[in-house]
Amino acid sequence: MYRTHNCGELRSEHIGQEVTLSGWLNKNRDYGSMTFIDLRDRYGITQLVFNTETNENLYNDAKKLGREYVLRIVGIVAERSNKNPKISTGDIEIIVSDLEVLNESKVPPFTIEDETDGGDEIRMKYRYLDLRRNPVQQNLFFRSKVAIETRKYLANHNFIEVETPVLIKSTPEGARDFVVPSRMNQGQFYALPQSPQTFKQLLMVSGFDKYFQLVKCFRDEDLRADRQPEFTQIDCEMCFVTQDEILQTFEGLTKHLFKTCLEVELSDFPRMTYDEAIKRYGSDKPDTRFGMEFIELNDLSKGYGFPVFDNAEMVVSICAKGQADSYSNKDIKKLTSWVQRPQIGAKGLVYVKYNLDGSIKSSVGKFYNDEQLMGWLERAKAEKGDMLLILCGDTDTVRGQLSDLRLEMGDRMGLRKTGFNPLWVVDFPLLEWDEESERFHAMHHPFTSPKEEDKERMLTGDHSTMKALRADAYDLVINGWEIGGGSIRIFDRELQAKNFKLLGFTEEEAEAQFGFLLNAFEYGAPPHGGIAFGFDRLCSIMKGAVSIRDFIAFPKNNQGRDIMIDAPAVIDNIQLDELGIGVVIEKDA
Ligand code: AMO
Repeated sequence: MYRTHNCGELRSEHIGQEVTLSGWLNKNRDYGSMTFIDLRDRYGITQLVFNTETNENLYNDAKKLGREYVLRIVGIVAERSNKNPKISTGDIEIIVSDLEVLNESKVPPFTIEDETDGGDEIRMKYRYLDLRRNPVQQNLFFRSKVAIETRKYLANHNFIEVETPVLIKSTPEGARDFVVPSRMNQGQFYALPQSPQTFKQLLMVSGFDKYFQLVKCFRDEDLRADRQPEFTQIDCEMCFVTQDEILQTFEGLTKHLFKTCLEVELSDFPRMTYDEAIKRYGSDKPDTRFGMEFIELNDLSKGYGFPVFDNAEMVVSICAKGQADSYSNKDIKKLTSWVQRPQIGAKGLVYVKYNLDGSIKSSVGKFYNDEQLMGWLERAKAEKGDMLLILCGDTDTVRGQLSDLRLEMGDRMGLRKTGFNPLWVVDFPLLEWDEESERFHAMHHPFTSPKEEDKERMLTGDHSTMKALRADAYDLVINGWEIGGGSIRIFDRELQAKNFKLLGFTEEEAEAQFGFLLNAFEYGAPPHGGIAFGFDRLCSIMKGAVSIRDFIAFPKNNQGRDIMIDAPAVIDNIQLDELGIGVVIEKDA
């Protein structure tokens, strides 16, 4: 037998018992005639004692053992003289009578401790060692718990879990597809799903009524802290539902997960339209844990001879509470350089300080008198000690820039550290005009339904009115992260065909790519809608992590590489040849 107990289990009540434990050597401390070994497994750490008094040979063997050796020991549980309240087994230790080395270990390239000395790269290369560290293990235990609670909640609400295929045909959802060559159909490729979108809709046509799946999705897009090329969704779809019923169901799921996995009770989620979110926060995924809402100043700032504002479409500001005193001229200069970085791209930054003594100081004091500047401060409901930060430019661009500055100020002022602020953002535009390609893109995806009142306009209106179409599409945002997105779907062939047309598909292209869905709509497709949560993102935000990698067992790095298995990698010519996509190799006749 390898063990009678695990390494996190023994307490004072076990004193006197003989036990067998197995695990990894976490630390070995030798004090001349006595050696202490910390034995570790998934459940905790137990202290082992070897001394010359009880068994000299064992002591001599034990003191030589290195970190990460795999051991099996037998011994008696004893009370510790030096108790360690920091660990659950801190009251006891094991006086070892038998020791077996189950496996040796090379010296690991970094310490297997909560705070390790290993950099990102080396920990990714030896991910199986990084995964031995307690904080990383805890993240995966948490992930598992969230998955189990998700299944419980959805099963209780009559959802059925159905697996959909991984080798499919492209679904255009905004990112590039990963493709897989077919050996049996040379020259042809499967695509890995960016999501099971069309399949879950077909399951609704089949009458499954409520579907879910914890499913891997694949997107070949530029990576960031909150994006991986393969990630997991809690993917859901429901029949005969309104948008409101979907929001209620998944608000319920979110509350259930926070309660069961974090013991956090969330109150009802506010809802905000897309237009309102953009106007108030410059973003469709605002972090609403802090205010600092946008204050538009067009009417108070244009026409006073300051050409930069006069020529701008939008002059808009935020009010940083109590910051007037904290920002010297030098600090303002630095902040200006920050907004001018290419990632933000603002041309400049204007400030108005409402000093504690009541005086006003501004970088545009030459163009505006105190009374005029006071008008701005009043609109912002500024108090003495506050500072207005103002940007100007094209409306869409400047709102995006000010949103970045708002988040930066929120970080600097320590307003983004704690709490959970979920928010439904609803009524997204159906279509987005892309200046570069001069065509519409689906804001969510091509299967999203316009709002009931916009359907007629979509079918009969002229092109110029299409930008104004609103969709029954919604996102779940928590603390400024897009956690989930979904929509009510089109279930009418004519409307779906019109949407494809607006998106630039010819009839033949739409038929070739989505004939199966359009056909399905002709066999009694029910009204339906759904949502998908980014599962990795949800786990990360619940635990306040900055990167979703922390919650993925074997993540890719920012170049999309798995540096442990060294993928992607070249494959040999024989394999390429078999797939019909490589160099043809001369074969013996
Ligand atoms: P969407 O594209 O909005 O919708 O994706 C749903 C959620 O998945 C997460 N997500 C990601 N997480 C990690 N890495 C990525 N690269 C990544 N891309 C997306 C986000 C996002 O909110 N089929 C639709 C859903 C539907 O309409 O029902 C879809 O996939 O948290």
